[in-house]
Amino acid sequence: MVCGRTRQRLVDAVCSAYDRADGSYQAEYHYYPREFFEPYLGRRRKSGWGLYGLLGIQKGETERMRAQHRKNFEFFGAPVGLMFSIDRRMEQGSWLDYGMFLQNVMLAASARGLATCAQGAWIDYHRLIADLLKFGEQEQLVCGMALGYPDPEAPENTLALDRAPLSEYVVVHD
Ligand SMILES: Cc1cc2nc3c(=O)[nH]c(=O)nc-3n(C[C@H](O)[C@H](O)[C@H](O)COP(=O)(O)O)c2cc1C
Repeated sequence: MVCGRTRQRLVDAVCSAYDRADGSYQAEYHYYPREFFEPYLGRRRKSGWGLYGLLGIQKGETERMRAQHRKNFEFFGAPVGLMFSIDRRMEQGSWLDYGMFLQNVMLAASARGLATCAQGAWIDYHRLIADLLKFGEQEQLVCGMALGYPDPEAPENTLALDRAPLSEYVVVHD
């Protein structure tokens, strides 16, 4: 967990690396496939344009898109940041367990009137983060998370994403 001065040091370091954009930082693992394909490509575009639409960002406004993405590295203004790591020797099953753990953290926060945003965006800067937070040799960054009070007025928080109907992903064998 980072707050206060350490949060600020982390935000400053990662924001300046992001601004340099010199390609020297790379994610340690691929959160997403290297190339999107259907139906995920269409869904991703739809949610992306839904968000940009709410923010008034048009196609081709790459600077504004970058500025929006950069907000990840300020924890979207949240006063507390969480960085999650896993022992890199663990296998896929433990990553599943980890996902449940993340969800529990988010639900626990929500039950207390707080809000979270899980953030895969940080993984590009895992070396910098591991250095700053003095990770052990076997610690691998899974993701970050912003934790704070929700701002229901913020346009991005009014985005309501579709859910695929059950019939699209459940096969009933009777
Ligand atoms: C593990 C994980 C990583 C995510 N990474 C990011 C991120 O880097 N930046 C971001 O803005 N949202 C990120 N998201 C948040 C999703 O965009 C968010 O859950 C979604 O917008 C909320 O949609 P829902 O309310 O329809 O579930 C991530 C979510 C998860 C679960």
